[in-house]
Amino acid sequence: MKRFVIAGLIGIAPVQSHALDEAIGRALFRRAWVPAPSSTLANDGLGPLFNARSCAACHTTLDRVKVETDAAGIVMSDNIALRFSNASGAPDPVYGRQLQTSAVSGVMPEGRIVMSNGCYKPDALAYGDLDPQTRTGTLLAPALRGLGLIETIPDAAILAMTQEEKPDGVRGRINWVTDSHGQKRIGRFGWKASAPTLPEQVEQAFHLDLGMSTLGRPALAGDCTSAQKACLAAPHGGDETTPEISGEIVSRIAAYLASIAPPPVAETKRAGERLFAATGCAACHRPSIPGKDGPVRAFTDLLLHDMGAELDGGATEPGVASTEWRTAPLWGLSRALANSSRLLHDGRASTLEDAIRLHGGEAARARTRFEALNASERQKLIEYLRSL
Ligand code: HEC
Ligand code: HEC
Repeated sequence: MKRFVIAGLIGIAPVQSHALDEAIGRALFRRAWVPAPSSTLANDGLGPLFNARSCAACHTTLDRVKVETDAAGIVMSDNIALRFSNASGAPDPVYGRQLQTSAVSGVMPEGRIVMSNGCYKPDALAYGDLDPQTRTGTLLAPALRGLGLIETIPDAAILAMTQEEKPDGVRGRINWVTDSHGQKRIGRFGWKASAPTLPEQVEQAFHLDLGMSTLGRPALAGDCTSAQKACLAAPHGGDETTPEISGEIVSRIAAYLASIAPPPVAETKRAGERLFAATGCAACHRPSIPGKDGPVRAFTDLLLHDMGAELDGGATEPGVASTEWRTAPLWGLSRALANSSRLLHDGRASTLEDAIRLHGGEAARARTRFEALNASERQKLIEYLRSL
């Protein structure tokens, strides 16, 4: 309703209001939110614990970028999150689901992230030790291109992929998640396919990364736990009935994300494409899925696969093993490499060869076949991946 009022006010046809929503969504994606209470009443409520003040602070570009550390290994960029859970996905009793590295004044940040021996770890923990059962896991901020196409893939196309006969003992299962309306949906977004739609992913980000409440995630104190008294007592920008972030803000950011075009389709080399299929990579990294508006060339099946001990992520989510991951979409890989981003969910691989060598579990046979390729074939396959 409001959308039409705005469109009317500035004299454009309602037909164009979608473009207007996207433009506003883009501005909201960059907006730095402020703690409560503030003079801009409608938009406050950051934290009390948070990781960054804006979406764009972590997603500085639409592609994956390098995690910056200083000489002592302290992580200086925001494009990374440390998650906490026990073996079955329950959060740490004190720190919650994620390490929040910032806080409003009067509340202590939970700690910082350091890189040591190639792994990211929590450091300077301000609320005591983690629970002995708590495991830590790292997630890099992914690229944000083409997500609108992923959202429009019909459920039936994803269900069909679970039913197909696959080579090499590859299975693949849907991450069925309950959305904020209590409905079972197919998870599509995030490294573990834990968000079913873009609005749900946006709400999750406001909750975990910014500490702000939404209609679907009404906790005013974000990821604060009952052990974090100062956090719970700090001022909030909303109440039980009025979230800090309105449904309109969520849907406009989602409209902006949905409008971002996918990475351009690579001019793929036929020999590389053949090798990609023959090696068994395409069993999970599907070069194309039929979408509502044509083929989606994302190189994923959106399914969870058990990748074995090689890719055990430590922390996990309820109902998903710590070794299970959504097939990483390979579109945009060339851009991640050009930005010197490391690979895999936590950046444990620095080259394509390393990433492939870390494929275990359901992908073990494809890895073995990759290792058996002769030097020239291997080169062709790597060049092909670099072109995506
Ligand atoms: C602290 C840094 C940080 C902030 C702030 C942040 N994100 Fe993210 N974002 C991440 C990380 C890390 C992931 C991976 C999470 C996962 O896999 O569960 C992610 C995942 C996503 C995804 C899923 C992409 C995909 O390929 O499936 C979307 C969409 C997204 N973020 C949008 C947003 C929006 C919108 C905001 C602001 C409301 C935001 N993010 C704020 C770090 C951040
Ligand atoms: C059983 C399914 C499966 C097979 C087969 C498979 N992959 Fe993967 N691939 C995955 C999953 C799941 C991930 C994400 C793992 C993670 O981040 O920990 C991934 C990640 C990757 C990545 C890192 C992407 C990024 O953005 O960081 C590359 C590169 C890759 N795969 C290439 C290949 C190649 C080449 C082959 C064939 C030799 C192959 N994969 C076979 C499931 C598979």
